[in-house]
Amino acid sequence: MMNKVPIPFCDLSRQHRRLYDEYVRAAGEVLGTADFCNGRFVKGFEKDFAAFCGVSYAAAVDNGTDAVFLALKALGIGEGDEVIIPSNTFVATAWGAVYNGATPVFCDIDPDTWEIDPADLEKRITKATKAIVGVHLYGVPFDFDRVKGIADAHGIPVVEDCAQAHGALYKGKKTGSLGELGCFSFYPTKNLGACGDAGCVVSGDREKIKLINSFKTHCTTADGDHSDVGFNMRMDDIQAAILSVKLRHLDGALQRRREISGIYDRGITNPLIVKQKYNEDSSPARHLYVIHVSERDRFLRHMSDLGIDCRVHYPLPCHLMKAFGDVPAPRFPLGVSEYHAAHCVTLPLFPELTREEIERIIDACDRFGG
Ligand SMILES: Cc1ncc(COP(=O)(O)O)c(C=O)c1O
Repeated sequence: MMNKVPIPFCDLSRQHRRLYDEYVRAAGEVLGTADFCNGRFVKGFEKDFAAFCGVSYAAAVDNGTDAVFLALKALGIGEGDEVIIPSNTFVATAWGAVYNGATPVFCDIDPDTWEIDPADLEKRITKATKAIVGVHLYGVPFDFDRVKGIADAHGIPVVEDCAQAHGALYKGKKTGSLGELGCFSFYPTKNLGACGDAGCVVSGDREKIKLINSFKTHCTTADGDHSDVGFNMRMDDIQAAILSVKLRHLDGALQRRREISGIYDRGITNPLIVKQKYNEDSSPARHLYVIHVSERDRFLRHMSDLGIDCRVHYPLPCHLMKAFGDVPAPRFPLGVSEYHAAHCVTLPLFPELTREEIERIIDACDRFGG
């Protein structure tokens, strides 16, 4: 009889059981100091996370959405400006532009890597383009050097959205250390996830990080004045203390993600399934294992019948979302993003998946027939 014990898409409780005592000890230390908001544990985490990313500075914030918002704000993005963003991303990348009063200009993705397409991006640059936000989606680094070459030729800064790419390597360098600013989410299911919401901006630019630290704390000055309209976008110390624990385990978790995706890469041989390609000189962080399947609904039913929980990231490219109904229509088609959104499926991938579960997932993929 077919094994139908459910395989979850992601099961954080397995990780939490393993590291429970370390998390509780870290949270207990915070309770002992009552240093709860942007305090010593946040400062400690900022130092450690900057070092992990290979940059000098980090500003811990309340979530990844605000990390993108504040990174663009630190670059002076505002009304009348355009920010180029791949249409295939989580919507929050685009909120960063919108919250600053700028217009998101969506660009297409590469048909093989499913990451930002540099040639398509270049077509969409206008006099109003003031930033490019590249997204290392699914943990796969986009072609940074090509994007940066185009951006430099037009004098435009590149921001990295690394919400799905903690620890990914591009030509030997960590994502987050490549552009002007790197933005991270520590949403619980991310490769490095808090026990609640949290985020961070990293950079080699001390002044920009100083600005972000000011914005996130109401723009408060030493004399009790407020230098500008500020925000409360601080990270909580309990999250920072737990993230510091998890950061110590991140390399091991990433290694396991890479092992499992390697097993999928080699093991899934069904010609109806197309896998994501990536540059040989990068080492993806493998946050999500995404495939293309022509008959997606039938594939999802097939996997669900076998007890395997798959997801879709994301069913709509940003340019087709109601939220962007007021944004001027794209000047060029976004056909690859639309095709991708209609065919992508995400398989379960988390470090604690067992050998048996991995084999069942591969077997289920290979049993899907035409
Ligand atoms: C690519 C991307 N950007 C930004 C975000 C926003 O992060 P958060 O949920 O922490 O606000 C996410 C989170 O899902 C994401 O995947």
